Amino acid sequence: MDTSELNLLPPEIAEASRAFEAQLAACDSLDALMRLKGAFTGREHSHAARLMEALKAAPKEQKKALGALANQLKNAWEEAIRGRLEALEAERKRQAALAARVDPDLPPPMPLQGALHPLQRLQDRIVDIFSALGFHVEEGPEIETEAHNFDGLNIPGDHPARGSSDTFYLEQHPELLLRTHTSPVQVRVLRRLAPELESRGGIRFVAPGRVYRKDDIDPTHSPMFHQVEGMLVGKGIGMHHLKGTLEYAMRALFGPATRIRLRPSYFPFVEPGAELDVSCPLCGGSGCRVCKGSGWVELLGAGLIHPNVLAYAGIDPAVWSGFAFGLGVERTAMMVSQTPDLRLFFENDQRFIRLMGGLD
Ligand code: DAH
Repeated sequence: MDTSELNLLPPEIAEASRAFEAQLAACDSLDALMRLKGAFTGREHSHAARLMEALKAAPKEQKKALGALANQLKNAWEEAIRGRLEALEAERKRQAALAARVDPDLPPPMPLQGALHPLQRLQDRIVDIFSALGFHVEEGPEIETEAHNFDGLNIPGDHPARGSSDTFYLEQHPELLLRTHTSPVQVRVLRRLAPELESRGGIRFVAPGRVYRKDDIDPTHSPMFHQVEGMLVGKGIGMHHLKGTLEYAMRALFGPATRIRLRPSYFPFVEPGAELDVSCPLCGGSGCRVCKGSGWVELLGAGLIHPNVLAYAGIDPAVWSGFAFGLGVERTAMMVSQTPDLRLFFENDQRFIRLMGGLD
């Protein structure tokens, strides 16, 4: 547009028209562009609107030239704004594509894969170790009878563990309870296999599973936890068999340098009864926080099967003998993983579960 033509325009519109290109170029956002659009080509109070008013008020002989000029200007502004809008839009798309672009150096997004719970994996490992020694796997119900949970295990009627403060009894069926240990599986299996004992040449099994006690949840207690029970029946079975078996199993579990020791203890269903300690899996026995400086950690209860337990199941204790043991899965897991709070195993925080990958 030649500048002489601009002289026809009201001075402030001529001024604005000269500044248009620079202002348009400065619009780097949609907002700024919309403001510029309003100021130049909006219906009211815009330079274009004022130009129309000037056209109306112009003397007759100028109307034609001014009219043509006004149209030309308005069209030029509109077209330039449209062009700028397209450019801004294209830039926005380019930025979005850039932000969403695939970085070939990043690992591909992997679908979340399920995995066995660390407690389950530890339990499986324990079971596998005994399977390799010929122990088969038995399971018992979590709702048990008093007979299996207590009587058959030589636990007298006045034993404190039988109280309703320690044991969950079923309200509608007071003779039923949530088993307080996996030991009742001993009674079930002994009774079931008693007739085949001679033909089988003995029994050996492990029984993993959930057990329940009336404990409030705290860092070392839970009303539900897991145990693995183990039992072997044969002829002439003594403490040396128990000791050899457990030493083998503990070395398989904690490493070949592991040592064990048996300390006398009392459980009604074994005689003699013992607690088994293993040399601390963390410090190897030199003393640390986990073993409280002693070099040993207490791991399980064990002993030679009490004659009353065999007799209750219909097995002659003069002919048959055996050993039994019971181990807490959570306790073992906490010890090996140095987890100070049992609750972590039940809360299923993925970060903790992943950390526990090291359990096996
Ligand atoms: N049932 C015992 C408990 O829950 C653990 C136990 C001790 C099991 C000695 C046994 C055993 O088989 O011989 O504390």
